[in-house]
Amino acid sequence: MSKKSISWTLVTVLVILSFVLSGCTTPTPVATQAPAATDAPVAAADQVEVFSWWTGGGEAAGLEAMIAIFNARYPNIEFVNAAVAGGAGTNARAVLATRLQAGDAPDSWQGHAGQELIGTYVAAGQLEALNWLYEQEGWLEVMPQTLIPLISQNGNIYSVPVNIHRANVMWYNPAILSANNIAVPTTLDEWITAMDTLKAAGITPLAMGEQWTAMHLMETILLGSLGAEKYNGLWDGTTDWNSAEVKTALENFAKVLSYTNTDAASLSWQDAAQLVVNGQAAFNVMGDWAEGYFRELGKVPQTDYGWAPVPGTNGNFQFLSDSFVLPVNAPHRDAAVNWLIVCGSKEGQDAFNPVKGSIPARSDGDRSLYGTYLQSAMDDWATNTVVGSLAHGVVANDSWKSEIDTALGLFLASPDAGTFQTALVAACKASGPCK
Ligand code: GAL
Repeated sequence: MSKKSISWTLVTVLVILSFVLSGCTTPTPVATQAPAATDAPVAAADQVEVFSWWTGGGEAAGLEAMIAIFNARYPNIEFVNAAVAGGAGTNARAVLATRLQAGDAPDSWQGHAGQELIGTYVAAGQLEALNWLYEQEGWLEVMPQTLIPLISQNGNIYSVPVNIHRANVMWYNPAILSANNIAVPTTLDEWITAMDTLKAAGITPLAMGEQWTAMHLMETILLGSLGAEKYNGLWDGTTDWNSAEVKTALENFAKVLSYTNTDAASLSWQDAAQLVVNGQAAFNVMGDWAEGYFRELGKVPQTDYGWAPVPGTNGNFQFLSDSFVLPVNAPHRDAAVNWLIVCGSKEGQDAFNPVKGSIPARSDGDRSLYGTYLQSAMDDWATNTVVGSLAHGVVANDSWKSEIDTALGLFLASPDAGTFQTALVAACKASGPCK
């Protein structure tokens, strides 16, 4: 062997060794600069395809407001709106999974801060880290400290949050409550008494929609029954799913469900929320995207609809955050980065959120642009105990959530708290932190 080939062999061995060692011991490095645009995809340079599930009432209008900012800033880039209908992403997320499987990623998509993002897309190595963009745009100074860990892993930040939504909101029809001499309930017992009165008067007490809205209701009842600390413990393994207090929480949930409309399974969240503002039901538990919808319908806050924390959850802000990502090998990477810049900008967030019914993720939003409800949400976000949502991706990874969802489907068909609890205990063992 010549001297030259020996030294090449040595170099090769050292390179392989360094790969092996770095794989074993070194954490993923923090991205500090813009990676070069990839040359893999062959696609037109002047478009950006953005994937979401914002097609319906209140939601599409919010997205359009942000697209308008994008179009004004980047008139030469065509915005391709690849939204798939279905509240909470029930259909969209399945379509996205199929596209990702086929290597057909959109340029950016909507995800949820928390376990959905970290446990699914980051775990699969599908996203680019965005630390360099955070530095370039100065976002570390304006994005809340509560949020950054939920969109990060190993020091890398993987998405750009556009908003903060509140899940634990009870919307009500003020005229129905006053006609029945009902004060806005603040505890579970008061709520149940109120719903008994309404039921006896022939009024649907609580409007609900398709199954994900039942999971949404369930997380608020778990929070209201257990309190923030024990609710958080469900997700980190410190609250026993098999305990008597969880059983009581599930019984409370069964009780609350008994006041809902019988056609829930066939209603979207908009259909269910609309029953309240149309005077056909007294209450609806839904995230504050409902407020965007009520406004779009021309309804007047505090006249056509009122709001309060779900009874028992006062002082807690059960949150979720919509967050846009940059996939590895985005077909139009530069245009996708421009979209993310709009998503993270004050201008973009202050256009989107007042219409969408959410508060800006950024701490420097212009409060005067937001209505009475959203101003109250800003105050509560700043002062309440913040906990995460199950139905919207914060607290549980996708496989755990889907096992809970399967158990929930059976429970809705046959509401036995004991059987449900057994299934939830098994789900936490299979895919959650329970041993
Ligand atoms: C959530 C999403 C919200 C809203 C809602 C209803 O998952 O985070 O922005 O779109 O679904 O579709």
